[in-house]
Amino acid sequence: MDSNMKELMQRLTDAGQSHLLQFCNELSAGERAELTQDLQDMDFQEITQFFRNATETSSSSRHEKMDARMEPVPREVLGSVTRDRDHLKDWEALGLQCIAQNKVAALLLAGGQGTRLGVSYPKGMYDVGLPSHKTLFQIQAERILKLQQLAEQRHNIKCCIPWYIMTSGRTMEMTKDFFSRHNYFGLEKTDVIFFQQGMLPAMDYKGKIILESKGKLSMAPDGNGGLYRALGNQGILNDMQQRGIQFIHVYCVDNILVKVADPAFVGFCVQKGADCGAKVVEKTNPTEAVGVVCKVDGLYQVVEYSEITLATAEKRGADGRLMFNAGNVANHFFSFPFLRDVVQKHEPQLQHHVAQKKIPYVDAQGQLIKPDKPNGIKMEKFVFDIFQFAKTFVVYEVLREDEFSPLKNADTQEGKDTPTTARHALMSLHHRWVLNAGGHFIDENGRRVPAIPSAGAAGSVTDDGNGNLKDGTDLPIKCEISPLVSYGGEGLEDLVRGREFHPALMLDENGVHELVKNGV
Ligand code: UTP
Repeated sequence: MDSNMKELMQRLTDAGQSHLLQFCNELSAGERAELTQDLQDMDFQEITQFFRNATETSSSSRHEKMDARMEPVPREVLGSVTRDRDHLKDWEALGLQCIAQNKVAALLLAGGQGTRLGVSYPKGMYDVGLPSHKTLFQIQAERILKLQQLAEQRHNIKCCIPWYIMTSGRTMEMTKDFFSRHNYFGLEKTDVIFFQQGMLPAMDYKGKIILESKGKLSMAPDGNGGLYRALGNQGILNDMQQRGIQFIHVYCVDNILVKVADPAFVGFCVQKGADCGAKVVEKTNPTEAVGVVCKVDGLYQVVEYSEITLATAEKRGADGRLMFNAGNVANHFFSFPFLRDVVQKHEPQLQHHVAQKKIPYVDAQGQLIKPDKPNGIKMEKFVFDIFQFAKTFVVYEVLREDEFSPLKNADTQEGKDTPTTARHALMSLHHRWVLNAGGHFIDENGRRVPAIPSAGAAGSVTDDGNGNLKDGTDLPIKCEISPLVSYGGEGLEDLVRGREFHPALMLDENGVHELVKNGV
């Protein structure tokens, strides 16, 4: 045995992880080299410390409810697209000005594994079955292109919104390759910056690292809060600084309605002098399992549904709305100095959260076991864990039907957050844009389809999940507007006012297409 191997054995023994080399002699030379390289790169002391801290915190907080320590978001830090309608134009103008000055960046969290959706490729490459068959990545890229264009038109100056894309060891190559094959969807290659978050091993309840095969550790990305460490060690903060970025919009890959670098949100946060902001949607059902933004012991954080009692979840204010109604949608604003401080000063203080999972493993006899109940943990940091460090924290409330429809699960009947619900949410939003701009839809008999259609209404259209249409049965109207035509419903009047369309309608940079009428 060479001295490197001896040293590694010793390190593993000291860390209580010597089982990881148990099958070493059964591996091919290549497999063995790969395993030893992985182990050599690992900081066992740090991992053991993470495990201790995370499991201690999780067991001490498991039974303790937060209720007595919570306060709702005060009105003075809250902006709302419905209640502050008068300010929207000003916020948007300020946001567009910041974009025109090249001060705004978008940062996409795309390092997740998408286990619930169950595809073998990154979630951003998913096609939910829109008429255009655009993927989530393409939709977001085109929103950025359009927004740059809007800022350029308004300020008569060329500008750029750099797009930072966080991937993980599992998604990096496929993501980069996808963008390159699609020519960055029209964006400048140099303004799409990929970086990689860290990975951590899955562990059993005693802190032993799990082997997913004889020569491979079970590894998972370290949560979307792995962002902060990655921003530092992948040189991203420096890149932002060099470009003069002052405001960063952080969001998740799976929300098909996301308004990337939303100028109104950015403008609101900038006007309030915020260092950190959270976009929220109103939680209306007390038992909905969504985290809420609120204050705990005077500091902002997200409290999960499982951390409060039903009585607190059901509490209502004088206006009849739930008292804790600021539903977190993982859509955040950070000022650059705040983000820099988080990365450079606060990141090590963030605790990992523990997720109990069913983790396939190789047992002591070398058998691969697929457990049917949780057998170990994954450790993750969360992107919102840094709210506590903000000096000026603001909350921006938007309408769920306009801005939030995440893709989490594979299609099942009545499923929540599926490709079908995402597709329908987008088409229904675009239907409303057409109506707002003065257009109408007509059924096959030439009758106008009511603006609020009823289920089964004649002329309404449904699809079979593969993007195929079935007439006259169900909702929604099939209507898709390319982000290259409109970012948020603006600029459609000239195209649709006073016109009648057959569903399905598609508006893109080449004009208006009525798909059914033309037999497409
Ligand atoms: P989710 O927690 O919903 O995870 O991520 P997921 O990977 O998409 O899906 P499941 O839980 O495996 O089914 C919310 C957002 O955070 C990102 C995801 O890519 C998504 O945009 N994320 C999650 C990361 O960037 N890194 C992670 O380690 C975890």
